[in-house]
Amino acid sequence: MAFTAPGLTEESAAGVVATLQERLSAFNDLHLTLKHIHWNVVGTNFIGVHEMIDPQVELVRGYADTLAERIATLGASPKGTAKAIEEDRSWDDYSLGRDTVQAHLGALDLVYVGVISSHRDAIETTGKLDPVTEDILIGQTAELEKFHWFVRAHLESYTGELSNAGATSEKDAADKAR
Ligand SMILES: [Fe+2]
Repeated sequence: MAFTAPGLTEESAAGVVATLQERLSAFNDLHLTLKHIHWNVVGTNFIGVHEMIDPQVELVRGYADTLAERIATLGASPKGTAKAIEEDRSWDDYSLGRDTVQAHLGALDLVYVGVISSHRDAIETTGKLDPVTEDILIGQTAELEKFHWFVRAHLESYTGELSNAGATSEKDAADKAR
């Protein structure tokens, strides 16, 4: 890096950029996955969930933009290609095609568990290196958690149990929730 943010060491900036790049690819994957669900969801309550997803796509695309521009601000080059997503991700491609509202939301719950857990890990990593980046990630996590609640509210019984509780894969979660 020829430059980075004032007061930040190049070593710290490199560590932050590595974390940000992985989260950028996670968000680029997530907004595509959300559109895939928007297009593939069928059955009872279709329109509510179809339309619930689009504002979240816009939010996540905006968050990807924020992370990419933070990488550039720190003096590095953000990678926004499909190949970068494939290379950066340690998780599997979303596994459901055309399926019911409940099946998709059961699986999407697990997607958000993964995304939010990893964002919290990134908060911890960047907090030691760059509190400005940490602050960005904290704000994003709060909104991701709010949407996660929207998803879970569809899976929740009046006693507060989730229909997909204990699921270990998206397909398992979909089967339990369906
Ligand atoms: Fe659409």
